[in-house]
Amino acid sequence: MSGFISLDGVSVDFHVRRGLFATTPVHAVRGVSLEIARGEHVAIVGESGSGKTTLGRALLRLQAVSAGRIVVDGDPIADLAGDDLMRFRRRVGAIFQDPYASLSPYMRVREIVAEGLVVHGTVPAAEHEARVLAALEAVRLSPAAEIADRFPHTMSGGQRQRVAIARAMVLEPEILVADEPVSMVDASSRVEILALLRELQVSRGLTIVSVTHDLASARHSADRIAVMYAGRIVEEGPAASLVDDPRHPYTRALLAAVPEPDPANRLRDRAVVPGEPPSPAALPPGCAFHPRCPVAIAGTCEVTDPAATPRSGGGQVACVRELPGA
Ligand SMILES: Nc1ncnc2c1ncn2[C@@H]1O[C@H](COP(=O)(O)OP(=O)(O)O)[C@@H](O)[C@H]1O
Ligand SMILES: [Mg+2]
Repeated sequence: MSGFISLDGVSVDFHVRRGLFATTPVHAVRGVSLEIARGEHVAIVGESGSGKTTLGRALLRLQAVSAGRIVVDGDPIADLAGDDLMRFRRRVGAIFQDPYASLSPYMRVREIVAEGLVVHGTVPAAEHEARVLAALEAVRLSPAAEIADRFPHTMSGGQRQRVAIARAMVLEPEILVADEPVSMVDASSRVEILALLRELQVSRGLTIVSVTHDLASARHSADRIAVMYAGRIVEEGPAASLVDDPRHPYTRALLAAVPEPDPANRLRDRAVVPGEPPSPAALPPGCAFHPRCPVAIAGTCEVTDPAATPRSGGGQVACVRELPGA
């Protein structure tokens, strides 16, 4: 697989103060390796606290990595500085979870969407208005000229998230990192926004890395899914294969725990798998999932942290039960 984006053993530790002198390391992301092809949409899926946002921020170079390397189109991003870093920022757009918090209430949609153009100065000012209107049209906000005059508070959550996407798209990025882009918008807008992201992916060859805690929506919106647990990718593969034939017990548990029939409630952040994920400051030894795992092998899973091995159907899985000969 061609690694347009290549994550190689990426770890992120936070050092949280504990008392006056001591700090506790929080292992938010642990040795994540993942290859993403140009034009592909990879969804990172996992419960709250699994490290998804931290991984997305590392890819945006908003968060330094403690170990490992992220390479985008041949460039290790940790080394970028000056003009190269600005160019990277134009190439990689971001959408965040909360379209209420991420848009300034004091700016009109025109100024919000134009911000990147102003900051980067790569497009002549005379062309900004046309670029803004084109970006609004691209996210199906019309009439664009009328929308551009509005303030975010006059708009619905779904409309605001479209403005956030227009803002990310105005510099024509090659990569979009979307952190839970639909978890705070209403059910009908969710479907439309996921369809819009798919359309942008296909029509512009955009590479998308999204973060979600909803495996069912990832199945329909992404090409590939990577399931994270306690900072590690425990299973990764083609979206359909991963959901229809999950190999890791955690992926199975996530799928079994989607009984919510009302789609309006389905994406709500809640503990879906029995038990609690471990604190990344106090991880269990061996496989981090073993205390919750219904098929843990006594004497093995509490001591062995399984390496990723190829899974049937494509991708990788990290479970001793999937090891050859197991
Ligand atoms: N800035 C930070 N300082 C300390 N701990 C953090 C920080 N950001 C995230 N964490 C911790 O790292 C873990 C992973 O968080 P996060 O990446 O936000 O997970 P997710 O997006 O999957 O919910 C959590 O335990 C969280 O509390
Ligand atoms: Mg998050």
